[in-house]
Amino acid sequence: MSAPNKSYDPVEVEALKPEKIERMRDEALAAFAAAGDLEALAAAKVAHAGGASPLALANREIGALPPHAKAEAGKRVGQARGAVNKALAARQAELEAERDARVLVEEAVDVTLPYDRVPGGARHPLTTLSERIEDIFTAMGYEVAEGPEVESEWLNFDALNIAADHPARGEHDTFFVQGREADQDSGVVLRTHTSPVQVRSLLDREPPVYVICPGRVYRTDDLDATHTPVFHQVELLAVDEGLTMADLKGTLDHMVQALFGGEGMKTRLRPNFFPFTEPSAEMDMVCYVCRGESVGNPDRPCRTCSSEGWIELGGCGMVNPKVLVACGVDPAKYSGFAFGFGIERMLMFRHNVEDMRDMVEGDVRFTRPFGMEI
Ligand code: DAH
Repeated sequence: MSAPNKSYDPVEVEALKPEKIERMRDEALAAFAAAGDLEALAAAKVAHAGGASPLALANREIGALPPHAKAEAGKRVGQARGAVNKALAARQAELEAERDARVLVEEAVDVTLPYDRVPGGARHPLTTLSERIEDIFTAMGYEVAEGPEVESEWLNFDALNIAADHPARGEHDTFFVQGREADQDSGVVLRTHTSPVQVRSLLDREPPVYVICPGRVYRTDDLDATHTPVFHQVELLAVDEGLTMADLKGTLDHMVQALFGGEGMKTRLRPNFFPFTEPSAEMDMVCYVCRGESVGNPDRPCRTCSSEGWIELGGCGMVNPKVLVACGVDPAKYSGFAFGFGIERMLMFRHNVEDMRDMVEGDVRFTRPFGMEI
């Protein structure tokens, strides 16, 4: 082990010269001041205050000095390191405060901003109403059946007991896709009602048959406040053993109660004629607004039913045995009931829609207020 070097002069140690220490300190202070953010300051800290910084290395040299020189060099280095650490802490605090202030501004949530810049869409109320009606019947075990909108003339008319010369054909203002050629059984039409789905359902299934058939239908009407050439109907068909008109009436009453709710909702039947049902009836439901109380009561007029107490819904009846035969079903064994009505009309009186054009124009301002019933 070598003896301490008594003649060692600390001033001679390059790293501990006062001007060197001063320069190290000043460089550290300059680097901290120049650090523009906390990341830069962290790098400057490693370089100027870390274990391998010039001042830390200089500090290590002190240990090798003779005792009398240690104090002075230690003081000089210690003061410089103290100043560096103080400047570092001050700059750290300054930059943290700056960052906090910036974050407060940048990450502030402006609760007054509109939350619905991208407005949610809404399903068309015709779709929603149609699905509600389907739900009522699927809950009772009915099946949803569909058919094509471009339909054979035979299914749209003939099979439903509407022969070519039947006046009812004239009442359906039909769009013909293809006229009937002399050698053909049937032309092609845009279906004028959903009743052909009755025939398709019976041809596809063995009784008992319980189907609900919503769908789009076409007639050559001009678009105005109460007509549209494209509209929607719901058709219902039940064919089973022993079905009677009482079953039809009970089914209709249940439907209006489920759709309009509350006390006193019921239907009434008025005799009518449809070629595909026998007997046939026009079905009305009690006005769901006044529940019949406006009738003969001038103090309580009702705009919805014009104080008549009833609202016309559509047609119904017992399936004509001729239709059962056309579909290969034995009318001696099976009987059935059916009804059909327009969904647009129901939407109009259920929601006070006054102009049918609003339903077909596709303007979201009409659709949105009905909300997102799923
Ligand atoms: N299909 C008829 C129409 O569009 C409505 C209708 C009446 C349907 C009586 C039926 C029914 O199922 O039994 O005018």
